[in-house]
Amino acid sequence: MDFLTRFTVGGIDFLSTLFVFLVGIGALAIIIMFFSDVTQSRDAVRHNYPVVGRFRDLFTRLGEFFRQYFFALDREEMPFNRAERDWIYKSAKGRNNTLPFGSTRNLNLVGTPIFINCAFPRLDEDASDPPPVEFGPYTPNPYRVSSIINISAMSYGALSKPAVQSLSHGARLAGCYLNTGEGGLASYHLEGGCDVVFQMGTAKYGVRNKNGGLDDAKLAALASNPQIKMIEVKLAQGAKPGKGGILPAVKVTREVAKIRGIPTGKASISPNRHPEIDNVEELLDFINHVRAVSKLPTGFKTVLGAYGWIDKLCDAIETRGIETAPDFITLDGGDGGTGAAPMSLMDNVGLPLKQSLPMLADILERRGLRSRIRIIASGKLVTPAEVAWAYCAGADVINTARGFMFSIGCIQALRCHTNKCPTGVTTHKKSLQGGLDPKVKAPRAASYVEKMRKDVAMIAHSCGAAHARNLKRYHVRIQQEDGTSVPLDELLAHRRPLAPGEYDRAKG
Ligand SMILES: Cc1cc2nc3c(=O)[nH]c(=O)nc-3n(C[C@H](O)[C@H](O)[C@H](O)COP(=O)(O)O)c2cc1C
Repeated sequence: MDFLTRFTVGGIDFLSTLFVFLVGIGALAIIIMFFSDVTQSRDAVRHNYPVVGRFRDLFTRLGEFFRQYFFALDREEMPFNRAERDWIYKSAKGRNNTLPFGSTRNLNLVGTPIFINCAFPRLDEDASDPPPVEFGPYTPNPYRVSSIINISAMSYGALSKPAVQSLSHGARLAGCYLNTGEGGLASYHLEGGCDVVFQMGTAKYGVRNKNGGLDDAKLAALASNPQIKMIEVKLAQGAKPGKGGILPAVKVTREVAKIRGIPTGKASISPNRHPEIDNVEELLDFINHVRAVSKLPTGFKTVLGAYGWIDKLCDAIETRGIETAPDFITLDGGDGGTGAAPMSLMDNVGLPLKQSLPMLADILERRGLRSRIRIIASGKLVTPAEVAWAYCAGADVINTARGFMFSIGCIQALRCHTNKCPTGVTTHKKSLQGGLDPKVKAPRAASYVEKMRKDVAMIAHSCGAAHARNLKRYHVRIQQEDGTSVPLDELLAHRRPLAPGEYDRAKG
């Protein structure tokens, strides 16, 4: 036998031995799995269908991905469908996002907003930029917000370091502000040089004293940083009203723990309300104290369910004087996002923004406080039509969290709470952060803002309004069950929130 023949025969010999060995190992593994399945009683499917029952878990997990890529229709997925996500991805990458043929959206669905184009739209050259909105006229440092869309609260901890860096640089490029979320102020929030809104959660991370209360000296020091423009006291967020922030133990790294002043590797659970705020008087006391210490515009974030307390808040403001009012209310929709929250709160507690935003705007209008207390709205306002709707309904400024997550690469893998985010946006694992380069992603966040401004302006011009902040309720009709649509102002005229007297009568 020559060398080549011997080599070929030896190779075939080796491969056949390897094959038999692998088949043997496979058979052994199946036998072990079989006995381990039939002898356990924790999982009924595996017990009754040994070995094959194991595929159920695998397929359930894989199904999430396959549905997204192969089966789900463009307008079908939740919380955001493919059409919405694609609009953001293309905008962030500066790609052309015009579409062919016609809308794939079912325009007959009840609740669909239809903007009322006018016969003679504004010429582009007659359009103007939305004027800035001033916050905190009675503070030594009022803040003027020009951007119609800004980055909603997401903590360093929920988000990764490169995600926060990308957003900080992106906000600077786009000229919008970045909200820190309730996890305290990290150097990463500041490093891009953007305007920052500091959020004070119920655990007061970043400005906390030994007993978990507010440390005035820490707050004053933090607020003296010229990048910090406003303070937002968080009462609640839409995804978990009545529950404090949750950062699972696996995401509490040494650095996250140091910034928050908590132990490493232990879940960070904030109290479910500020211990010192139990009624509207105490809310006003706290807001005014924080404003006096910080010298910055100060407001609060909440989600509406019951709404009678807003009238009580207005009563208290009337008694104390207009300057004592919160400078803004950030209103989050019950369908807002989160890094981690219980499903029962996420699904069923708190009014969606579609209901609560007009309600809040109407109460403040009725009480003559509409221009004193600015409304910042958030809750699935990630595409131009949603943002334009919110301006029609009564918002002064819009925030989005998940819109910006998509802009820097989030693929809605729904893994934020596991520390295994496949795009690096919500994980602290270095191995998963490699593709999240702030130099690449910051311009994408900025490009998303830019495209949003252009498209919202386009809707406004089509309606004959000069800019987004000129959009009114009569500019949008809402699709009804009977196939007709009704202008938002008419629709809401019959559904205004009850005034206190009416409210008491309605309750008998
Ligand atoms: C990953 C993540 C972390 C969040 N962290 C906070 C937070 O620290 N404080 C807060 O008030 N809201 C937090 N939120 C809620 C958002 O700020 C926002 O109110 C909500 O997601 C609705 O906006 P969206 O629909 O544009 O995402 C978080 C949301 C996400 C997705």
